Amino acid sequence: MRSHLLNDTTAEQYRRSVTDGVERVAAKLATTERPFTGVTVDALAPVIDAIDLDKPLHDTAAVLDELEDVYLRDAIYFHHPRYLAHLNCPVVIPAVLGEAVLSAVNSSLDTWDQSAGGTLIERKLIDWTNERIGLGPAADGVFTSGGTQSNLQALLLAREEAKTDTLAKLRIFSSEVSHFSVKKSAKLLGLGQDAVVSIPVDHDKRMQTVALARELERCKQDGLVPMAVVATAGTTDFGSIDPLPEIAELCEQFGTWMHVDAAYGCGLLASLKHRDRLNGIERADSVTVDYHKSFFQPVSSSAVLVRDAATLRHATYHAEYLNPRRMVEERIPNQVDKSLQTTRRFDALKLWMTLRTMGADGIGQLFDEVCELAREGWKLLAGDPRFDVVVEPSLSTLVFRYIPGSVTDPAEIDRANLYARKALFASGDAIVAGTKVGARHYLKFTLLNPETQASDIAAVLDLIAGHAEQYLGESLDRAS
Ligand SMILES: Cc1ncc(COP(=O)(O)O)c(C=O)c1O
Repeated sequence: MRSHLLNDTTAEQYRRSVTDGVERVAAKLATTERPFTGVTVDALAPVIDAIDLDKPLHDTAAVLDELEDVYLRDAIYFHHPRYLAHLNCPVVIPAVLGEAVLSAVNSSLDTWDQSAGGTLIERKLIDWTNERIGLGPAADGVFTSGGTQSNLQALLLAREEAKTDTLAKLRIFSSEVSHFSVKKSAKLLGLGQDAVVSIPVDHDKRMQTVALARELERCKQDGLVPMAVVATAGTTDFGSIDPLPEIAELCEQFGTWMHVDAAYGCGLLASLKHRDRLNGIERADSVTVDYHKSFFQPVSSSAVLVRDAATLRHATYHAEYLNPRRMVEERIPNQVDKSLQTTRRFDALKLWMTLRTMGADGIGQLFDEVCELAREGWKLLAGDPRFDVVVEPSLSTLVFRYIPGSVTDPAEIDRANLYARKALFASGDAIVAGTKVGARHYLKFTLLNPETQASDIAAVLDLIAGHAEQYLGESLDRAS
């Protein structure tokens, strides 16, 4: 069994095994014609159930053969130009190389004595990101597992900085289209059920600051404590960016923590054309960035950044066996002092490899390309009478719905759109997302693949229309 341990004696086997795995994935990527095979849960579950985990195959080649059946064949492939659904990007090769290195060396970023240089690399990337944001000389932060964790940590710090002993009095303000992790965080942080005040958005799906000002005022008058405003820089559905400078003004006026959830919009930090859309982010107390959304990094790669490093103390605990307090005086950099996690992957290495190979401009160029693609998609949709499209894209999403000329019942149109999404998924030809706008069901493209062409968008729209028409045709047949 020791032959499976990665060490000085097995380096050659490691090379062969990993190369074998890389060859299989490379062959798969090169020959994948659709983002999905359309396999159903009912078809795949028995294949996986039939594997007896107590009967190992002992041979990596055989395990890779089996992996083809249980995973590789039917996986959802984000690199395919017709994967247009969620906030999953195709990944850049330097980052994938980083992933291979970091899992083989297996540093854990909690303490210096488990990572050494890894700690300093992470710190440099945090400083780099903070400089791009403009958070100032006292800024700091830490890598996290994703935007949800980053938002949770930011709101934990905001809660601890808020001037009250009564959690029930705390209020968080975020737009009605902010990410659900804001509400989830409030719950995890022990705040009351009414803690998150939903602020309406304008026509462009940006937080209405007049409404925010009114709610902050009301909060004060009711003797409650405005703990944080969460501004979203790139909402999940619409890519809309809340008016950051106005929100910063209000936060200053009411003494409220300003958190910017830039999980999606952070790609603009590298943009060559649209960095100005993030103006005002530099006034935040904390910022979430998801490199695994718009920096073309593999999952996971995210960070929470703070204006004042001292606020990270709210996540600090010392243990004699890991990070005794004396190490702070000895200036030993233990990242666990800043993190919600203890054992933690060296995800920062992927971004490091990316920046050292491609440079930030390379990433920014790719992100600019998908934003441009979304504009082309918008023009296609706006000029197509078969579709209703909600807002012009600020980043790279498009929310739209098929509207047949012959049908006026909105519920029937809902059903046709829901059907089209399901049928498309089942065909595997393309994958799109869905959401609700008001009470109505819409479809969504999240465009993060620079390889996707306007012609792919046009073709997928035709497929959607075809499926929806088929549903409506069958629905008519059922009625008659
Ligand atoms: C605006 C926004 N914030 C936070 C998140 C959560 O990020 P993660 O899925 O990395 O936890 C998302 C995910 O889509 C998001 O769109």
